[in-house]
Amino acid sequence: MTIEFMKNVIVHRRNDFSLDKTAFLTIHGMSQNPAQSPPAANIRERLRRLTPYFGSQKGIWAVAVLATLVGALTEPMIPALFQPLLDKGFSENKLPLWIIPAVVVGLFAVRGLANFVAQYALSRITNDGMEKLRSRLFSQLMKADLSLFSKQSASTLSNTIVYEVQTGAAQLVTAVIALTRDGFTLIALLSYLMWLNWKLTLLVFTVAPGLSWIMKALSRRLYKLTKESQNATDNLAYVVEENVLAHRVVRLQGGQEHQVARFKQLALVLRRLALKSTVASAAMTPLTQMVAALSLSMVLVMALYQSQNGASGATVGGFVAFITAMLMLIAPIKRLTEISNPITRGLAALERGLNLIDDAQEETQGRHTTARAQGAVTWSDVRVQFSADTQPALIGISLHVKPGETVALVGTSGAGKSTLVQLLPRFVQPSAGTVALDGIPLEDWSLSNLREQIAMVSQDVIMLNDTVAANVCLGQNADRARIQASLEAANLWAHVQQMPQGMDTVLGHNASELSGGQRQRLAIARAVYKDAPLLILDEATSALDNESERSVQEALQKLMQGRTTLIVAHRLSTIEHADRVVVMEKGQVVEQGAPAELLARGGAYARLHHRGEWASEPR
Ligand SMILES: Nc1ncnc2c1ncn2[C@@H]1O[C@H](COP(=O)(O)OP(=O)(O)OP(=O)(O)O)[C@@H](O)[C@H]1O
Ligand SMILES: [Mg+2]
Repeated sequence: MTIEFMKNVIVHRRNDFSLDKTAFLTIHGMSQNPAQSPPAANIRERLRRLTPYFGSQKGIWAVAVLATLVGALTEPMIPALFQPLLDKGFSENKLPLWIIPAVVVGLFAVRGLANFVAQYALSRITNDGMEKLRSRLFSQLMKADLSLFSKQSASTLSNTIVYEVQTGAAQLVTAVIALTRDGFTLIALLSYLMWLNWKLTLLVFTVAPGLSWIMKALSRRLYKLTKESQNATDNLAYVVEENVLAHRVVRLQGGQEHQVARFKQLALVLRRLALKSTVASAAMTPLTQMVAALSLSMVLVMALYQSQNGASGATVGGFVAFITAMLMLIAPIKRLTEISNPITRGLAALERGLNLIDDAQEETQGRHTTARAQGAVTWSDVRVQFSADTQPALIGISLHVKPGETVALVGTSGAGKSTLVQLLPRFVQPSAGTVALDGIPLEDWSLSNLREQIAMVSQDVIMLNDTVAANVCLGQNADRARIQASLEAANLWAHVQQMPQGMDTVLGHNASELSGGQRQRLAIARAVYKDAPLLILDEATSALDNESERSVQEALQKLMQGRTTLIVAHRLSTIEHADRVVVMEKGQVVEQGAPAELLARGGAYARLHHRGEWASEPR
């Protein structure tokens, strides 16, 4: 359900990227997740974690930095032009006029080209890295231990993979390049100023400690707020996710108002956090600029003072150049003072992705493989307890199923039947005891090989938003003739033939275009197609009417031949054909034997049988 939902969410949200950039950043820039790691002191260490994704294209980084450098170097050239223009052009009249447009246009051409190249290179780095990280995250999701899906909701995971990576990468790389550009510009301008008048320039540096203190304090706060906002956004997305899934129930129960109130409350939390971050980031700019203005005014006073006192070698051109270069410092300084903002947010967002990679431990597995298993299944003293404070779902189950045997599992709702069969593909882990296939403990099997041995129709049918054919052969090579044969066996071919594109018809979200029984038959077709030595049917025909069940039953009967079959069922017609019936109660096996034998014995099975139904609790 989780993956399926995510898929849909992603499909639905694709259009969001058309939002204009500012809106996008304000909505998503401050999002998500629990404070997993505190703002580590060492920013270099944190950036290093990102290098596998954003640092591998060394050539492109070189181009980006070089282009930025060239762009930055053109900056001091503008004030530098004033000096000869004023001193030679006006005062001495020695400058040929044609030089002026040539130099100005040339300068802007170089600057424009450099900026263009830098921007393109920057975009390459961002998008390459983003794609790499995103694909890594998704493939990690495919391999992750199943516990991840109970810890994190579909919306949280899709937020991380789809949005966080996007905003994080865009903000961070832009910030790093801006840092390079403005840093170079600043250095270039300052060097020029030093060359013009080093005493004055040194004054500019007096502001550094004040600036860094303000930036550090505010970005620490911003980091904390960003983490809290990530969390709040997750909660908000979760309410949407849940209500999309439960839209019918909510309407039927008249729960809309309550849900709206719940949403509003969470939206208010996010609003409060967003405003707080705005205070932190908006305060940064005026505060730092005040400090910068202070130093600027000191420099101006000193410069005028020096020139009035006829300091040696001062010319009008030199003075104008100095002041112009100084005024040009304001723009990069302003941008640099704002830079910790996107860096903080970008890092927080990307780290959420990196933490997911660390959190999503891969499923453990062994190395045993075989082309086709015999199909002997053994549970030895298996206990399953989902959490410490609940009753165990299975208690000391010991059971052996021979190759080719058909075993029916019966028992009241909650007895542990599904749990017992979910152990086989290792969707559930035993808390104690072992489960073995062909005498080899499941942990020793290679997971993919183990799962190849199992065809399963589970209680809740899940379909992908893809064609009928793709759903039938999911994960395996498509053989159209075999797909058709499987659909025929599942008694669904007649219906599929009537669909607009036959087996190439796309089924919609979780095959919502099919009825409950049709979906179940599609799941059976999938199991038929898989042709695995171990067949598990967990109430596979519960949604079918007697008529359809009978025809599917024949196909299933044929399918069961030559393979080990575990059937969880409550219909007599299904159980009658089983070699053995295992009756479960409260996580234990209470009775087992051939159906007729059990009936004659007059025990638990006979009681269930006389009541005429097995698992009857509404779910
Ligand atoms: N993922 C889970 N986390 C916690 N508890 C679980 C989980 N899955 C099942 N349980 C609990 O384990 C017990 C056995 O559940 P199980 O699904 O195996 O019953 P069942 O016999 O298949 O019932 P039904 O006939 O209703 O399908 C139940 O009490 C259930 O609440
Ligand atoms: Mg069940």
